[in-house]
Amino acid sequence: MAIIGTGIAGLSAAQALRKAGQAVHLFDKARGVGGRMSSKRSDVGSIDLGAQYFTARDRRFVAQVQQWQAEGCVQPWSPSLYNAKQGRLSPSPDEQVRWVGAPRMSAIAKAMALDLPAVFSCRIAEVFKGEEFWELLDAEGTSHGPFSHVVLAVPAPQATALLASAPKLATQVAGVKMDPTWSVALSFDTPLDTPMQGCFVQDSPLDWLARSGSKPGRDDSPDTWVLHATSAWSKQHIDLSREAVIEQLHGAFAELVSCPMPAPSFSLAHRWLYARPAQPHEWGALADPDLGLYVCGDWCLSGRVEGAWLSGQEAARRLLEHLQ
Ligand code: FAD
Ligand code: NAI
Repeated sequence: MAIIGTGIAGLSAAQALRKAGQAVHLFDKARGVGGRMSSKRSDVGSIDLGAQYFTARDRRFVAQVQQWQAEGCVQPWSPSLYNAKQGRLSPSPDEQVRWVGAPRMSAIAKAMALDLPAVFSCRIAEVFKGEEFWELLDAEGTSHGPFSHVVLAVPAPQATALLASAPKLATQVAGVKMDPTWSVALSFDTPLDTPMQGCFVQDSPLDWLARSGSKPGRDDSPDTWVLHATSAWSKQHIDLSREAVIEQLHGAFAELVSCPMPAPSFSLAHRWLYARPAQPHEWGALADPDLGLYVCGDWCLSGRVEGAWLSGQEAARRLLEHLQ
């Protein structure tokens, strides 16, 4: 069986299928696993530019998170939380348990992918079925297969492009819109003089701020912050240069925190084109079981880490059910 995408949804499906005795082969266009849960290596250490933390509400995911915690790749994160509204900052503590990969977000995907055969830097361009089996064609023109089943575990717009063999599914998936997020990291040699470690922001180009060093296992020197822009700002500034995005979000950050803000000693910007579904769905996973084609990803559920993991489990469950 082939699984396209080694984000948390693809890895979740792969683990469930492997557990049921199926042979799986994974493919990803990136250089490693994790997708939107990966961390970027940089001069100031690893930075979580995508998913910042996750919550666990479904009992199956709660059990999985407990297992990851026991294995040592997940730890709770209890930041000093703030809320910013109309330019006003105020502490906003709560009781919610929040989890992060340790020592970096990508640790979870790395642990999940152990022993799973995967091909990286391999963008699948076409998925097609011969008389009996599936073949994948990558962007270099190399073909991979044969496979009895294919699981697409990629953002909806990328899945649509691979669904030519299943026009009905393609139409449904094409209806899912996903919004972008600009993500910026800024490091300061002198720590900013604020107790804030995480902040939900409203009425600003910014949506979220996190102090990287407050997460378990991360370096706290230099003082590195991750800023996420809102979907609306990201859409409006989708083609802005990285330099201009850094400048504008640094400006919004400086306006928000009530402490002196020096020039950052390090900065980087990353554009997530398909960061989050515009709306949640309740599909679990999508499938054409007679064809042997399954589709999963965060956008089939809540657009969160938990939703992605559950969607991968659901794709695997439906596939195994149809095998019986
Ligand atoms: P992805 O992680 O996107 O995995 C898809 C994989 O498919 C990628 O590795 C990609 O390279 C690969 N791929 C795509 N097309 C192809 C192709 N043609 N061929 C081969 N490979 C392909 N969630 C939370 O719960 N909490 C948060 O705080 C949070 N913050 C976020 C902040 C940002 C900026 C972003 C972008 C996301 C955030 N999320 C958060 C959402 C969370 O990251 C996602 O819900 C989850 O990681 C999605 O997993 P996935 O497996 O469905 O997709
Ligand atoms: P959660 O329960 O911590 O947050 C959900 C939402 O509740 C927050 O977005 C925030 O608006 C509000 N909230 C929670 N605690 C708050 C507090 N103490 N003070 C003020 N507001 C508070 O986590 P959940 O439900 O797991 O959501 C995941 C997070 O991931 C959300 O913040 C979401 O916006 C973010 N996300 C970001 C994406 C992006 O592309 N930027 C993509 C997907 C998720």
